[in-house]
Amino acid sequence: MSERTFVIVKPDAVQRGLVGEIIARFERRGLKLKGLRMLQVGSELAGEHYAVHKDRPFFADLIDFITSSPVVIMLVEGKDAIRMVRNMVGATNPVEAEPGSIRADFGSDIGRNLVHASDGPETAAAETALWFGDEAVDWDRATDGWIWE
Ligand code: RTP
Ligand code: MG
Repeated sequence: MSERTFVIVKPDAVQRGLVGEIIARFERRGLKLKGLRMLQVGSELAGEHYAVHKDRPFFADLIDFITSSPVVIMLVEGKDAIRMVRNMVGATNPVEAEPGSIRADFGSDIGRNLVHASDGPETAAAETALWFGDEAVDWDRATDGWIWE
């Protein structure tokens, strides 16, 4: 089933020059970009995005981190895109992430895990609305039939 999911290339990945590498992994897999933007996140947006974690001990550090430097956000579409992208990103703690995942290949600290990806259909819809509003770009991709049956 075609799904759309929401991804943040976090400040550590932007600072380390991994934006292109991360986008390329999604493109190569056949996922379709439907939105792409760089921005400096403010504490209000950060707090809304991570509201589910507001009572966790790491919340303040998480907000400081995500607002510390620009991020790149994207909408990514494809068959089972939510699960596929979560698998490509890897486990929250890079130490436990599958080799070949982004967090395993580039990360080594849970607080510097490079990428965010929506964890289910409800969060994907809510995060897309929060970060992109209705700014998704609909476009025809000539290769779709060679990627999806
Ligand atoms: P994300 O939301 O960023 O995609 O990460 P996730 O689903 O894999 O993990 P989640 O449980 O939603 O946690 C959000 C972010 O909080 C930081 N974290 N730190 N110190 C800790 O124990 C801890 N646990 C989570 C991570 O940066 C994680 O990405
Ligand atoms: Mg999460």
